[in-house]
Amino acid sequence: MAPRVALISDLHLSRAKPYFHANWELLLRALAEEKPDLVLVGGDLALDGPHREDDLAFARAELDRLPAPWRAVPGNHDVGNCIPDLRGEAVVTEARQAAWLRHFGEDRWTLDIGAWRIIGLNCLVCGSGLAVEAEQEAFLEEAVASAGGRPVGLLFHKPLCNADPLDTAVSQSFWYPERREPIARLLRERAVRLLISGHLHESRDRVIGGARHVWVPGAAFVQDIAGEWLPERGGRRRVGYMMLELAEEPRVTLREPAAMINIDIGNWLRGGIGHYGDLAGGAPFLGLAPATVDKAA
Ligand SMILES: [Fe+2]
Repeated sequence: MAPRVALISDLHLSRAKPYFHANWELLLRALAEEKPDLVLVGGDLALDGPHREDDLAFARAELDRLPAPWRAVPGNHDVGNCIPDLRGEAVVTEARQAAWLRHFGEDRWTLDIGAWRIIGLNCLVCGSGLAVEAEQEAFLEEAVASAGGRPVGLLFHKPLCNADPLDTAVSQSFWYPERREPIARLLRERAVRLLISGHLHESRDRVIGGARHVWVPGAAFVQDIAGEWLPERGGRRRVGYMMLELAEEPRVTLREPAAMINIDIGNWLRGGIGHYGDLAGGAPFLGLAPATVDKAA
C-alpha cells in the first residue's frame, strides 16, 4: 500500500507568544485520527526563531507530540529570511542556522519511503553566500544521482515559483529567480517529479513543466481570505493540512478540519501592527498603546 504522508506547514509556535497555539492542538487531534505513516513539516515551525531561540526549542518539543515519525525543513521564521531581504525581516546567518541544527539536528536530509525518495532542503541559505549553500547544492546533486530509479520529491519552505521557473518577478513569496537554476535544471531533466512547499499560507496543487508543485496550507493563520479570488496566484487561503499518498502517481487531498480557526491576520498589516514578525519580536502585544490595539481590533 502507498505510504500516507501528512503535509503540515507554518505552525508559528512559541512558548512566549502562543498566538496560534489553539490551531496546533486542533491539528494534533486531526492527525491523531488521520494516523499517517509520516509527517513532513514545511517550515516556519517557530513564531520568531531568529530573535528568540526558545521558539525553536518549544517547536521541537511540540513536534515530538506528533502521532507519527516526522521530518522538517526550516522556514524564514526559523533561521531568518533569504538574502537580500525585501521587507525588513532578520536574514539567515551561520549562527541562526546553527541554532536550527542544535534543536533539529539537520536542515537538509534524504528519506526513502515506499517507492519514493524525498529530499528536504534549507531554501533560506540559497543566495546567502554561506559555505553551507554550496555544500547543499552538492548534497542535492548526490541525493538525486543516488536515487537508484526512485521517483524524487523535494521539500522546502518557499515555493519555487508562481507560474513558471523562468518567471522574472522578484518576490519574497518564492525562490529568487536567479537562485532557481539548480532545481530548474533537475526539472528540465525530469529528475524531480514532486515539489512540496509552505510559506504562503495558501494551498494549491498544480503541474508546472511536468512536475507537481504542491503548496501546503498554513496551520497557524491565513492572510486576507477575502482576497483569495484575486487571480495572481490562484491558491486557497484556509488553515489546514494535506494528505499525500505516495503512489506511482502521488495523490494529494486537502484537509480543512472544521474545528481549526481561520485566524486572518491580514488586518495586522493595515491596523498599526505591521508585519506580525514585529509583534512577535520587539513589540509585545500587551505593550502596545491602547489606541493602536483598538485600531487593530
Ligand atoms: Fe514563511
